[in-house]
Amino acid sequence: MSLAPHGGHLVDRLLTGAALEAAKAKAANLPRIKVDAYAAFDIDCIAKGIFSPLTGFMNEAEVRGVLDKMHLRPGIPWTIPILLSVPSAEAAKLAEGSDIAIEDDEGDLVAILHLASKFTVDHREIAEKTYRTTDETHPGVAYTLGLGDVFLSGDLDVLKARTIEFQEFNLTPKETRAAFEHHGWKRIVAFQTRNPIHRAHEYLTKCALEICDGLLIHPLMGTTKSDDIPGSVRMECYQTIIEKYYPKAHTMLSLMPVNMRYAGPKEAIMHAIIRKNYGCTHFIVGRDHAGVGNFYGTYDAHHIFSEFDPAEIGITPLFFDHTFFCKTCGNMGSIKSCPHDKEHHVFLSGTKVRDMLKAGEIPPVEFSRPEVAKVLIKWAQGAN
Ligand code: ADX
Repeated sequence: MSLAPHGGHLVDRLLTGAALEAAKAKAANLPRIKVDAYAAFDIDCIAKGIFSPLTGFMNEAEVRGVLDKMHLRPGIPWTIPILLSVPSAEAAKLAEGSDIAIEDDEGDLVAILHLASKFTVDHREIAEKTYRTTDETHPGVAYTLGLGDVFLSGDLDVLKARTIEFQEFNLTPKETRAAFEHHGWKRIVAFQTRNPIHRAHEYLTKCALEICDGLLIHPLMGTTKSDDIPGSVRMECYQTIIEKYYPKAHTMLSLMPVNMRYAGPKEAIMHAIIRKNYGCTHFIVGRDHAGVGNFYGTYDAHHIFSEFDPAEIGITPLFFDHTFFCKTCGNMGSIKSCPHDKEHHVFLSGTKVRDMLKAGEIPPVEFSRPEVAKVLIKWAQGAN
């Protein structure tokens, strides 16, 4: 028996066969709205059950529950509103109770929204309660403040799954669940990342694998901020490191078409719930999970889990302290397991690493596997 998805069953809003053909014909004659890549990724997540139990975009009561109580409804934790917005002039033309066709950023007709309600919630309040700040230098806040004035709620029927680069790794929750079953894995730990895997990441994943049957390396590949390392470069890094340093019988690489929110603790809860939907039993939460700049405390993403009933979250978080290579211990460790002070630790800032890569210098092996560094040098020099 595999782990139950959030809310009890895996949502599937992707139409097929005759229903798909009928919906396509109908959609061609419906009023149409165009959405950006961010909303298009959200639609894809709803379609495939990545956001189970959501069957569409949230209504006002759900948004209020998420913002004020961190619950979609009683018993169902949820920490980030999933919103579809339009400018008020456009909203005025759309009638509640009617069907609306949605065109994505690539010009494809991707879904029909059964428009249940139109509503407004102050954008600054959404930002404050989701990101714990209204500072516009925060990428999630900037995105939220730029949304249209009116939100549209309602179930979606999805006409087309979104395909992305490295599509062969874009397994749906149904597919990862089947793969775990095939491998005979009962305890599966997921690793969220939006970066190439460095030694600290490798240490976390391998510590976790010691107590699990399988490791799902599960990089986020929805929209990210422009200065994050591109997905294609990261995928080459993941494949390279897995090939040489991970046990094939216990490791799986699959990507996750979810947007990065940079919401720190609130996003850690969302990331955990999503991995439950993919069939994982454990989830790694390290230092400053899903953080950006200095907006969150190093362990805020650990502390937030204590605000929930673990049975409602339904996936076990594995918390890790800040980890590093200690020259005196001669291995990786954390402030919990290493007795030495900072001078003994190999620490490189992101800026320092970027400068080294641009100059064609391989960062120390205590920081990065050389094979990964080589991929990054190729990219950093091309990006000069
Ligand atoms: S994140 O936005 O996906 O969190 P990143 O890819 O850097 O960014 O981190 C992936 C996971 O590794 C997160 O759980 C993060 O907390 C953890 N992590 C990253 N670096 C370290 C580190 N040095 N020590 C402990 N945990 C870390």
